[in-house]
Amino acid sequence: MGRIGMGIVGAGFVGPHHVDAVRRLGYVDIVAVAGSSEESARQKAEQLGARKAYGDFKALVADPDVHVVHVATPNYLHYAVTSEALANGKHVISDKPLAATAAESKRLVEQLKDSGLVGAVTFNYRGNPLVQQARHAVASGLIGTPTFLHGYYLQDWLLYETDYSWRLEPEKGGASSALGDIGSHWCDLAQHVSGLRITHVLGDLTTVIPRRKKPRGSREAFQTAADADRGDTVDIRVEDLASVLVRFDNGARGSFSVGQVCAGHKNDLVLEVCGSKASIRWRQEHQNELWIGHREKANEILQKDPSLLDPAVRGYAHLPGGHQEAWADAFCNLMRDIYGFIASGQKADAAHPPAFATFEDGYRANCTVEAILESARRGGVWTAVAC
Ligand SMILES: NC(=O)c1ccc[n+]([C@@H]2O[C@H](COP(=O)([O-])OP(=O)(O)OC[C@H]3O[C@@H](n4cnc5c(N)ncnc54)[C@H](O)[C@@H]3O)[C@@H](O)[C@H]2O)c1
Repeated sequence: MGRIGMGIVGAGFVGPHHVDAVRRLGYVDIVAVAGSSEESARQKAEQLGARKAYGDFKALVADPDVHVVHVATPNYLHYAVTSEALANGKHVISDKPLAATAAESKRLVEQLKDSGLVGAVTFNYRGNPLVQQARHAVASGLIGTPTFLHGYYLQDWLLYETDYSWRLEPEKGGASSALGDIGSHWCDLAQHVSGLRITHVLGDLTTVIPRRKKPRGSREAFQTAADADRGDTVDIRVEDLASVLVRFDNGARGSFSVGQVCAGHKNDLVLEVCGSKASIRWRQEHQNELWIGHREKANEILQKDPSLLDPAVRGYAHLPGGHQEAWADAFCNLMRDIYGFIASGQKADAAHPPAFATFEDGYRANCTVEAILESARRGGVWTAVAC
């Protein structure tokens, strides 16, 4: 297999995890990092072991040694970077969201079409071995027909008024905060595991902390405020808590809540699918266990153990039973699926491996979030997901 060169635009919290993940594949070279300035790019390139550093993403996407561009900037830049990368003939792996609005995402879907290039979005929970096991179990009829999908995605890193992020500024994060940031993961996971599509939503949104202290200096994502940097008070115009009722294309119903102001919940993503025969539940904070609920026999906990997984999904587990696999391993599985597809030279419209979320999936995520916002704006009415 020939070597593939990657370059990454944005190396804050998640960017380095893209680099770690692709490094583990063994056939990807970390060519370049683009940052918000020459200086920060140079620093990050040194830390990440990249050969080149650029203070402008346009130079990175024009570099002939870069074959795949990873996008890990704040959301508002995703469209410009991805569009420029595609125009320069590069494959793109965009962190979610694909773009800040559904209209922008749609344009990227169209730009990718017929380009012969590969485009992917990192809905990384798909890469967990037990998520693939759950998906396989639902597809093979273990739980019968899905009737009710429910769960939540709760975090606590925005609990205090001194907590702050660009995610709270619509100009940088988009029109939604909690829903766009983590609700989009729940929706992708629910659709991926069940094989269903969300058709209608009804949202109830609120801003628990309507005014926050915006730091005067820069702060990496998820960093807490230093005493010296409590900042100026600003109004918050996006939701930090939301509950959503959901309808799926087979008639199944669902509900989920998202919030980043829920103490004690660190990265607490839970999905349960109840079916006509059994139920199945996966929880990110206990990601090496899959709960299977029965009516006429004892409920089960399936531990992540390659020998107990279905042969079709065993390749997503890389350690024997009892050896915990985690977030970064799932991220690597995602990259293995995407880069495997790129390396195989298959046409972009060929069947994708399961953990590979496409630009269409990214577009659908934008449409779903926008439908929830629209539902809430109209006072909480059922709203169709139009895409
Ligand atoms: N898939 C996931 O689970 C996951 C997790 C975290 C973040 N994300 C996504 O990744 C993206 C980045 O999030 P983060 O948490 O890493 O944010 P972050 O603020 O920690 O990092 C963003 C980086 O982009 C840099 N940047 C800003 N403007 C730039 C420019 N013009 N050119 C190059 N770099 C620039 C910033 O300096 C910073 O280092 C977001 O879109 C977010 O939604 C996804």
